[in-house]
Amino acid sequence: AVTRTFSIIKPDATRRNLTGAVTKMLEEAGLRVVASKRIHMTREQAEGFYAVHKERPFFGELVDFMMSEPVVVQVLEGEDAVARNRDIMGATNPADAAPGTIRKELALSIGENTVHGSDSDENAAIEIAFFFKPEEIVG
Ligand code: CMP
Repeated sequence: AVTRTFSIIKPDATRRNLTGAVTKMLEEAGLRVVASKRIHMTREQAEGFYAVHKERPFFGELVDFMMSEPVVVQVLEGEDAVARNRDIMGATNPADAAPGTIRKELALSIGENTVHGSDSDENAAIEIAFFFKPEEIVG
């Protein structure tokens, strides 16, 4: 089925002018960008978005990183979008990511790993609603 997922092009990528390179890889994987905006996350947004990780030892570092530079938040649409996006992103740690994936080719480390993508349809809906109004998504 055609579904949607949520993506973030992270600060390590915007800083290195890789917004286009990442988007090209997403599009070539069969995902359509149906919403996109460049934002500088506030602390409230970063802490709220990653609230599920707040007990993790890397939470403070993660929030500081996501606020360090602008990010590009996107809604992606395609056949089985969540799985398709996870495939093209590759493993969280670029050292474990397969060749040809975004994280293998572009990421710097497990923290500075270039992209975020939703891990389920349920979380995709929650994450999309966190950053986008329905009318900002143009399918
Ligand atoms: P993401 O998919 O955005 O969701 C949570 C993020 O936490 C994850 O990508 C990683 O970038 C980050 N993360 C996971 N483990 C670590 C770690 N050990 N140190 C720093 N960041 C981490």
